[in-house]
Formats: sequence, C-alpha cells, structure tokens
Amino acid sequence: MQAASDPALEQAVREIGRELHAALPSRPRHPVRALDDKAMELASRDAELRAALFRLVDVTPACRSLDDLAGHLAGYLEEVDGRSQSLDAAMRAARSAAGRRALGAAAATGVRHMAHRFIVGDSPQAALGVLRRLWDAGAASSVDLLGEATVTSAEADRYATRCHEALETLAAATRSWPEQPALEADSVGPLPRVNLSVKVSALTPLMRPEAPEVGREDAAGRMRPLLLRARELHAHLHIDMESLDALETTLDLVGELLEEDELRDGPSAGVVLQAYLRESPEQLERLLDWAGQSPRQPPLTVRLVKGAYWDHEVVEARQHGWKPPVFELKAESDRNFEQLTRRLLDARPAVRVAVASHNLRSVAHAIAYNRLAGGEDRDLELQVLRGLGDDLQHALADQGLRVRAYCPVGDLVAGMAYLVRRLLENTSNDSFLGEMGRGTPIEELLAAP
Ligand code: 2OP
Repeated sequence: MQAASDPALEQAVREIGRELHAALPSRPRHPVRALDDKAMELASRDAELRAALFRLVDVTPACRSLDDLAGHLAGYLEEVDGRSQSLDAAMRAARSAAGRRALGAAAATGVRHMAHRFIVGDSPQAALGVLRRLWDAGAASSVDLLGEATVTSAEADRYATRCHEALETLAAATRSWPEQPALEADSVGPLPRVNLSVKVSALTPLMRPEAPEVGREDAAGRMRPLLLRARELHAHLHIDMESLDALETTLDLVGELLEEDELRDGPSAGVVLQAYLRESPEQLERLLDWAGQSPRQPPLTVRLVKGAYWDHEVVEARQHGWKPPVFELKAESDRNFEQLTRRLLDARPAVRVAVASHNLRSVAHAIAYNRLAGGEDRDLELQVLRGLGDDLQHALADQGLRVRAYCPVGDLVAGMAYLVRRLLENTSNDSFLGEMGRGTPIEELLAAP
C-alpha cells in the first residue's frame, strides 16, 4: 500500500478533484429545491432553528390536521431566539384558525418536498420511472426499502414481504432496459441490474446487544429466503449497517449465511464499513480474513461509507459515560476513510469495492489511488445518495466512471428516521456539501485531511 503522503497520489487527487469540480453541473435549481437548501443553510447556522426544524419534520407524519401541525410549528419557533421577521410573521399567523391552516399547509408541503428530494417513490413500482431515468443518465441504483427498527414479528414479516416484492418488481422491469455496458460488468464479471439494500433491524424485532444470537437467528430466517430469491433473479442484495449496537450481529449474520452451501456461488451480496468508527480498520481486517477463507463468486462487495449515525453514537456513549466509538473530528474520519479506501482497493479481487461519499476529496482520492495502483475505473464503484449527491452523480457519470445512486423507497412515515439522518448530515457544520455551498475554495476542499 502506498503511503498517504505520496506526492504522485496527492497530485492526481487534485487533478481529478478539479476536473470533477469543473464538471459539476451548474443547472439552475428547482425553486422548491432552492428553498429547501435555504432552510437547511439557515438551520445549519442556528442550533435552535435546527432543533425546531427536526422536531417539525419528526412530528409531521403524526399530525392529524394542518391546524395541529401549525400549532406544533409555532410552539417550536417560540423557542428560537432572535427570530427573523418571517419567522415572527409565521408565529403571528398561527394565532388565527385560518392562519394556522395556511401555515400548517405550508409546513406540510415543505416537509413533503424535502422528503421527495430523498425518497424516490412510495413503492418500487412508483420508483421505476426515476430508476430508469438514472439508468439512462449512466447511473445504476440501489433501492433501499424504508423502514427500520421493527417492533413486532408481523412488522418484520411485512418488511421481508416488501423486499421480496421489490426484487420481483425490479427484476421484471429492468429486464427490458437498454444495455449500459459501463454499468453492467467489471473485470470480475457481470454486475446485477437489480440492487436492493436491506436493514437487519427491519428484519427482526429481536435485535438486542445482550442476546445477539436470538436476533441473528430470527433475522436469518427472513434473510435466507431473500438471498435465495436474489440468487435466482441475479439480483444483488446489500446488507446495510446501522448503529454500532447492531454491528456484530449484522456481520455475524451475513458471514454465516453466505457460508451456507446453497449461497456460496451467489447471489452477489455486500456489507458496509463505516469509516467514522474508530474500530473500522480492525473490522475491515476481519472482513478481509473472512473473504480470504470463504471465497465466493461473485466476491463480497464492501461499501465504504463515513457513517450516518454519528449523533446517535455520541449521545449514546455520553449517556453511559463511555468514550464515543466514533471519531469526533471530521478530519480523523476523512483520513481513516482514505486509509480504508486504499486497503480495500489493494484487497481486490477478494472483494469488490464501492466508495460512497459526497466529499469530492474522498472520491477523487479513491479514483486516483485506483488508477495509480494500476486498477481499471470500472473496478471501482462510486455511490451517492439520491437527493444529496445528484450533481456529483452526473459529474462522475459524465467522466465514464461507474456510479450508483442509493434510492430510498417508501412512505413518509417509514422514511422519517432516514430523512432526519439526511438533514442532520446536511445541516452539520462540517458537512462537505455545506462547505461547498458556502463557497469554500476548491483547493481548500481538495487538501489532504
Ligand atoms: C442510511 O440509511 C444511507 O444507509 C444510510 O442513513
């Protein structure tokens, strides 16, 4: 593995980063999208406004009426110090019934629009149009069925059924899609058109850190048939990673299932590595040991992400008086992300590598390292989240790089936790997209973390 400070690598990162930056489309923003961006920008500058926005988003699906919603909104805004004139006007409006209805309608529309930015449809069927347009624009997709942390077996069964239906719907629809050679094969072999991401916490109500085997077995009972069906349909199944308390269970579950005789030669399957975890380098070594001992065809895909549960992990650790399991400085996470990228790319062909980030520096680093190591562009998958990484997705696809958009599907209620994670990410002070939006010079953004 080359050293982090290799000057040739640094130079290549900057060149690729500048090229990508120049290729970012400067399309005029849809007015509603521009408004969302404005709301998020304001929220990222003001902690109280940010809290109010989250509580509003959180409460929207449960509100019975617009009046109710406006009442909540006014209540939250009341706690914001130094309100702008428009926020004050909103609060005054909430004093009359008619004003509350109008305000409630505006708030509901706002939350729905924000959700639509990230959620592509309320069912796989409804999402097909967007998925097909992505494909035509040179981007593959991974469908994520919204829903997590199920509480009853019936709920977990329903989630599994939705996953089965999604596999069938997607397999049937994608069969007639035109060929996209850049998206359909790497040097290891074919890449499935159908790619479904699932969350283990949605497949069992019994996930408890103190009794991991119970949750593991219960989830395995629902995951095994899904893997078998994915194999028959030549679909890829990706097992998402959630908060740290489910990590061991998730990795053990996937390791055990994929070693079963009937699952050794398919389906294509993957797991996630979260670079914000201090222990992620050891976790990666364990994964690579596993991949070395249990060779499969096609190889396991590892999706490297920064991690979306940062706030949760920090709060959880503080409550227990523990040291947070996540890096607290963004630069530490970013440096680790790059180290893990290099380690992963060097480990091919034992694994397939997907690098998921909206950080231009992290993405350029992955592309540069792959090329310097003699790899082909098609052997590196780049992933973005629908609604956050759209511009980057276009820029990557335009450069002929292999890109996949992560596309949540489901209703607003099921999607609330997901939406809140995206907002947290996007309004955090050190978010890369936020920095770019604030006009931080590109050379600064491309500097080594
Ligand atoms: C999440 O659900 C993208 O898997 C990630 O937040």
